[in-house]
Order: sequence, then C-alpha cells, then structure tokens
Amino acid sequence: MAPTSPRIRVRRLVLADLAAAQAIERESFDEGWSATAFESELRHNGAARYVLLERAAAHRWEAVGFAGLWLQYDEAHVVTVAVLPHERRNGYGRILVHALVTVAAAYSMTAATLEVRASNTAARALYSGYGFWEVGERKQYYRDPPEDGVIMTTEALASERYRGRMARLGTSLRERFGDAATPSAAGMGFDV
Ligand SMILES: CC(C)(COP(=O)(O)OP(=O)(O)OC[C@H]1O[C@@H](n2cnc3c(N)ncnc32)[C@H](O)[C@@H]1OP(=O)(O)O)[C@@H](O)C(=O)NCCC(=O)NCCS
Repeated sequence: MAPTSPRIRVRRLVLADLAAAQAIERESFDEGWSATAFESELRHNGAARYVLLERAAAHRWEAVGFAGLWLQYDEAHVVTVAVLPHERRNGYGRILVHALVTVAAAYSMTAATLEVRASNTAARALYSGYGFWEVGERKQYYRDPPEDGVIMTTEALASERYRGRMARLGTSLRERFGDAATPSAAGMGFDV
C-alpha cells in the first residue's frame, strides 16, 4: 500500500448509518431522500443494497461516501454514489463503484445500469471507467433543475472482458489503498 494512503473500509450500510449517509447526501445532491424515505428504503426495500466507505480517523471511522443499487430481476440498477465534497478526486468514487459492481456480480446480476444527469461529467467519467456505456437518454428525466438523463449500462458482468476490466481496476485500487479497497460482497457483510 502506498504509505500516504489512508486506512479505509467498505461495508454494508445499515440503519445505524442513516445519519452519516444523509449528511453525505445533503452535501452531494440538491434533491435527496428525506430521512423517512431513506429509512424506509433501508428497512423495507428488499431489493436495495447500500455500501458505506469509511476512512480511519483518530480512534474512529469517518464516513466519506456511500452508494447503493437495487437488484431488479436480473439487472442491478445503480441508485446513488456520493462522496463528501472535500474528499473528492481521491479515488473514493472508484472504490464505491467497484463495491457496487462486486455486490451486483455476487447476486448474479447480468449487468448494471443507471441514469445520470447529462451535465454530471464527473459521474459520467467515473462510470465510464467502470465500463458503463451510454446507451440512450431520457428527455427531461430530472427536475430542479430540469435536465435530460443519460442511460448507461455495462456489458455482461460475467463476460471475460468485463471480469478482466474489474480485475485490472481492482489491482489498481489495491495498489493505492491496500486490500481493504476491494472486499468481497460477503466481506462487506452481504448474505450472498
Ligand atoms: C461523482 C462522484 C461520486 C465522484 O467521486 P470521486 O471520489 O471524486 O471520484 P474518484 O476520485 O474516484 O474519481 C474517479 C474518476 O472519475 C472521474 N472524475 C471524478 N471527478 C471528476 C470531475 N470533477 N471532473 C471530471 N472527471 C471526474 C475521473 O475520471 C476520475 O479519475 P481520475 O481522478 O483518475 O481522473 C462525486 O463527484 C460526487 O459525489 N458527486 C456528487 C454526487 C453525484 O453526482 N453522484 C453521481 C450521480 S448518482
């Protein structure tokens, strides 16, 4: 591990992490979940799987980002990825997307898909690094401000090419952050 890399951990986001996730969300999106809606999502949406990324601080772990997906039939739908504004461009977004794809593959999802604001160049670049291709758009999909959504999807997660991509991306994350950057789904706390 590079000596300057902070110690991190990636784990399943649980109800006790609600406040931490909401603090990140408030700083990341103009429109976000209300506390009640997010709590209900965690309690009642059996298709939802969320991950939390924490960094070691003096004697405790600090949440720096979180991400989530829905298991929709055989396809994973990425719902959110967010990193605290002052922690961005440190590779944490990649760790979170890597974790989501790992979870999706562990639940035998064939592919992963998402919508993103057309103007969100940061997220589009992050997703494209993880093999999400732009396959279409949804006109005026977003409100406040109104904007088109870009639909992005991966090729088959089980394909040799995609698994090769994940292996290369995983190696680069481990070189930078150590093994903790790429836990298995079970290692994150999912019952797979
Ligand atoms: C999108 C987001 C999660 C990226 O998180 P991050 O921790 O900054 O991402 P990383 O540092 O891992 O960056 C990975 C790659 O994404 C791309 N990227 C990230 N931020 C970028 C920016 N501001 N401009 C252009 N490309 C960017 C780059 O390709 C980057 O690789 P590089 O640093 O080697 O150039 C973060 O900007 C965020 O939380 N935004 C607000 C919430 C949001 O819009 N979420 C996505 C929609 S659900």
